[in-house]
Amino acid sequence: MTEKLKHVAIIMDGNGRWAKKQDKERTFGHFHGVEKVREIAITANDENIEVLTLYAFSTENWKRPIQEVDYLMQLPSMFFSKYLKELLEKNIRIESIGDLTPFPENTKRVLLNAIKDTSHNTGMVLVFAMNYGSRTEIVEAAKKYHLAMVSGKMTEELNETNFEQFLMTKDYPAVDLCIRTSGEQRLSNFLMWQLAYAELIYFRWIN
Ligand code: IPE
Ligand code: IPE
Ligand code: MG
Repeated sequence: MTEKLKHVAIIMDGNGRWAKKQDKERTFGHFHGVEKVREIAITANDENIEVLTLYAFSTENWKRPIQEVDYLMQLPSMFFSKYLKELLEKNIRIESIGDLTPFPENTKRVLLNAIKDTSHNTGMVLVFAMNYGSRTEIVEAAKKYHLAMVSGKMTEELNETNFEQFLMTKDYPAVDLCIRTSGEQRLSNFLMWQLAYAELIYFRWIN
């Protein structure tokens, strides 16, 4: 890949196994994941990447044990209470994709405040995929298109270009590079449309 990277996406996986290897609880891995998010965001911004999308919580992750889900719900406040100031200074803009409706009020508030507080920033866009699933996104896009058609707002026949306007990623360039940090070679319902031409890198650090 020789062209400049515009959009990098990361499937932040392997936290639990990383912790277990050190005889720690899985949540210890999630805690350290928060520090890595900061590090990656700052580095990507320094490298002039336009958009960094991080898979933080999938539509399937609700099926995890309740204690783990509860812990994961606290990560946005842990992250933003520590690093929002730095992100603001670095001119990074926070956004999210996925349906935030089912999240606890505090989790939602912290994320929405960060989105609002950074909305005027003009540097890298840091997108958190939260309660995100690609299949849902595509089905929702099809529904939105249908509604736009029947209400007369849309008259054009559906094609690849106008369909993208109904996706949650409509404002971002296509993903150039997707990294999965655990060794598993799958997408786990992440950005399936947007990754059509992306390079894929799977780190194999877990034995
Ligand atoms: C990624 O790490 C974090 C989330 C999915 C929220 P995992 O929790 O999936 O860790 P492993 O893959 O089980 O080791
Ligand atoms: C993908 O990791 C989701 C996130 C990183 C948020 P998972 O660990 O949830 O995916 P599977 O279950 O291994 O496919
Ligand atoms: Mg995993």
